[in-house]
Amino acid sequence: MLRTHTCGELNMAHAGQNVILTGWVQRSRDLGGMTFVDLRDRYGITQLVFNMETHAALCDQARKLGREFVILVEGKVSERSNKNAKMATGDIEITVEKLDILNESKTPPFTIEDNTDGGDELRMKYRYLDLRRNAVKRNMELRHRLAFQTRNYMDSLNFIEVETPVLIKSTPEGARDYVVPSRVNPGEFYALPQSPQTFKQLLMVAGFDRYFQIVKCFRDEDLRADRQPEFTQIDCEMSFVTQEDIFDTFEGLVVHLFKTVKNVDVVKLPRMTWADAMKYYGSDKPDTRFGMQFVELTDIVKGKEFKVFDDAELVVGINAGGCAEYTRKQLDELTDFVKKPQVGAGGLIYLRYAADGTLKSSVDKFYSPEELKKWAEAFDAKPGDLILVLAGKANKTRKALNDLRLEMGSRLGLRNPETFSPLWVYDFPLLEWDEDSQRFYAMHHPFTSPKPEDIALLDTDPGAVRANAYDMVINGVEVGGGSIRIHNKPLQHKMLQLLGFSEEDAQAQFGFLMNAFEFGAPPHGGIAFGFDRLCSLFGGSESIRDYIAFPKNNAARDVMIDSPSRISDDQLKELSLKVSI
Ligand code: AMO
Repeated sequence: MLRTHTCGELNMAHAGQNVILTGWVQRSRDLGGMTFVDLRDRYGITQLVFNMETHAALCDQARKLGREFVILVEGKVSERSNKNAKMATGDIEITVEKLDILNESKTPPFTIEDNTDGGDELRMKYRYLDLRRNAVKRNMELRHRLAFQTRNYMDSLNFIEVETPVLIKSTPEGARDYVVPSRVNPGEFYALPQSPQTFKQLLMVAGFDRYFQIVKCFRDEDLRADRQPEFTQIDCEMSFVTQEDIFDTFEGLVVHLFKTVKNVDVVKLPRMTWADAMKYYGSDKPDTRFGMQFVELTDIVKGKEFKVFDDAELVVGINAGGCAEYTRKQLDELTDFVKKPQVGAGGLIYLRYAADGTLKSSVDKFYSPEELKKWAEAFDAKPGDLILVLAGKANKTRKALNDLRLEMGSRLGLRNPETFSPLWVYDFPLLEWDEDSQRFYAMHHPFTSPKPEDIALLDTDPGAVRANAYDMVINGVEVGGGSIRIHNKPLQHKMLQLLGFSEEDAQAQFGFLMNAFEFGAPPHGGIAFGFDRLCSLFGGSESIRDYIAFPKNNAARDVMIDSPSRISDDQLKELSLKVSI
């Protein structure tokens, strides 16, 4: 290499040595007799010093260095008079004897500092400069470590990484597909995989028995902080396993990652049924870093002439411990919060349990102190607590209370990103009913197996059938999901029928899988982790974009390469496409 050392490794042990360093000019300071330059590379920053008295010409050259110039310097490692304990190389500096400018740089459009002055869009446009910043670079390093440790763990358990195709077939289930026109098959399209689901199942039929892949997936869906159109999964599948084996194997993976990457000890993961998650948290991805579980009041509050409660399907609340002293203004803020269209509640009812033991509610007109006491008991409330109650249609109210619970958790500082609370949520329903299209959809995907004891219900009450499906949830984020699969043709066929597939469509879309099931398909199951989500969780950020080297913006655009973009008429013609926009 052109250099003898990196900018992050020199210290007093190297004092007196001649070294060659390469890197980018972070900043320079001209103090007349001396010019100081901070030289940066991937590994750190080293201070260079140019001496006017001994090397006047060199010093002149150094004064002309602009930010982000790429240089090579030769010089001697010397002890600094002004040491900087905050820097790994803060005890030394390089007294420069030779300077080569390897490349000049235009002034960067934002500062390459931890606290940059660049806005989001600008940093995305110049992502290669953003990646020079410590914070973003560290995120990439974290991502690499997680991928590396994942491969280590999976390899140690005999999993084999197999690449599955990227040009596959469009299917009507799940999110929208990204499609790719085929030139040699005019009018026909490939789809990019939303996940390698069917391929990993075929690998089980092929006898591979333990498969994994760190793999790109593509979904054309509305974007949010935790969703990108192309994202990465740790995709896994195993044969001859029960749900229990999957839990053991993959909580092992998460325990391994926490230990090796963050040095955090995670013990056995707790488990919660989907039904309990909905009942106590109003969400299938509960943030269990804090309690504040839902308490249902429906039975004890009805029949007191309070119309809101009398008309409600569900009256349910949380105990915001220690918040009895909330001011009118704070309570109004919470009321505004629950009434936001995204949350959707009609209003908020509260009960203060003052420190002196008195109970005061926003519905005192309808409830006597004795009745309010019963509320407080239901919540196991203590003096100083504040009970917040919502009422209405059951599902909508649970969803709104989930939002309020998370908001209170944030306000009370109970959602520390460095605290990790993983769990399994299991026994999901197999199907969910969609009012608009008047049909069932697979809650996970159409290859998920019903629980054997619920199979009889498929004919009588499909909505009540539970699946052998599970999610891993950490801090309220769904980091992974999977299921035990169907592995015989008749059951797969029945499932597709329930989902409204005609005989013909079922065969056209999934015939290849059902046919494979006729050639000795082993029982199998698996899981896929959202790798970007895992990275952002480990890094303590809510946005997965920060952990993707070249992400898309909220309009699914890559603003750096300006994509998507139009293609030429010739290209369109070659692909047998006409575009009339
Ligand atoms: P699922 O659709 O639940 O399951 O996806 C698995 C995990 O992938 C992550 N994820 C995403 N991450 C970022 N951006 C997105 N747009 C996005 N969509 C999903 C989530 C999710 O838990 N084939 C099945 C898995 C299986 O059954 O084995 C599947 O893809 O963290």
